[in-house]
Amino acid sequence: MPKDRAYDPPVSSEITPRQVVLDRRQLMQGAAALAAMTALPGLAQSARPGKLAPLPAVKTTLAGALTMDKPTPYADATSYNNFYEFGTDKADPARAAGTLKTSPWTVVVEGEVRKPGTWDMESLLKLSAMEERVYRLRCVEGWSMVIPWVGYSLAELVKRVEPTGNAKFVQFVTLADRAQMPGLRSAVLDWPYVEGLRLDEALHPLTMLAFGMYGEVLPNQNGAPLRLVVPWKYGFKSGKSIVRIRFLERQPKTSWETSASSEYGFYSNVNPQVDHPRWSQATERRIGEDGLFAKKRPTLLFNGYEPQVGQLYAGMDLKRFF
Ligand code: MTE
Repeated sequence: MPKDRAYDPPVSSEITPRQVVLDRRQLMQGAAALAAMTALPGLAQSARPGKLAPLPAVKTTLAGALTMDKPTPYADATSYNNFYEFGTDKADPARAAGTLKTSPWTVVVEGEVRKPGTWDMESLLKLSAMEERVYRLRCVEGWSMVIPWVGYSLAELVKRVEPTGNAKFVQFVTLADRAQMPGLRSAVLDWPYVEGLRLDEALHPLTMLAFGMYGEVLPNQNGAPLRLVVPWKYGFKSGKSIVRIRFLERQPKTSWETSASSEYGFYSNVNPQVDHPRWSQATERRIGEDGLFAKKRPTLLFNGYEPQVGQLYAGMDLKRFF
């Protein structure tokens, strides 16, 4: 991954127009959920910034999920992206991801589970109450964003499929379809884009299966129709447009490890004390706050989620398991 040199101001916010693919009645079900729906924090003008289908959510009560930071403007969060299946330039995904067909969509769950199977979007959307959680996302390239995600803990799905005693890791496989994804013609990564977590990381309540952001379904360039969000790890752990979730006994290789194992480890916990071999990780720029005089922020251990996740790594040498 190239280091983020200068932050180019985002191109005019090109939000991919697309069919409303979700059954709204389904989403709106449950008067309680609707009654509990609250205004999104920091959203200035509109409750529907991208004019995509609304995805109502209750605010989470999860400790650590609500940062006091101001959310990144929607236009920035949707026009400065990493989604290499649509090109490696930050503006490519917003420009090119209109070809991604997000419906119908299924997620295969397989491997070391008692209940393997294929989940369609309707079942996934109904699996648990939608929550809004404001998380920081820190990219390994040195920039960060603050995004109000909509979804629920991945643990909800993991518990339903009942991992066996052999399951120690979870692999996330994302869509790789040349017909829809022009970036696959390039060998920049091994396709499909794969990522992984230890089972206890996957079960941590902060790990989120996200279906939306800013009160709406995910825009294609941000990983529609569902993606992972692991807020204490570098952004590349948060795979977009997931099609397969595998429970494994052994630690799987990730796409970034395969491409450069000395630069990208399996753990990828945000850590200001462990430099990337080619640059420091001590500070970061907040996208949307850049300007001539904008100060860099110090990067926080585990991206600031240390109180919640620190004990997962007790006794581990974080320089070795980077
Ligand atoms: N998922 C897929 N399938 N392909 C990708 O190229 N890039 C990752 C991650 N998920 C990527 C992906 C990286 S490097 C980052 S920083 C985040 O997505 C960026 O998420 P965002 O564009 O929504 O901010």
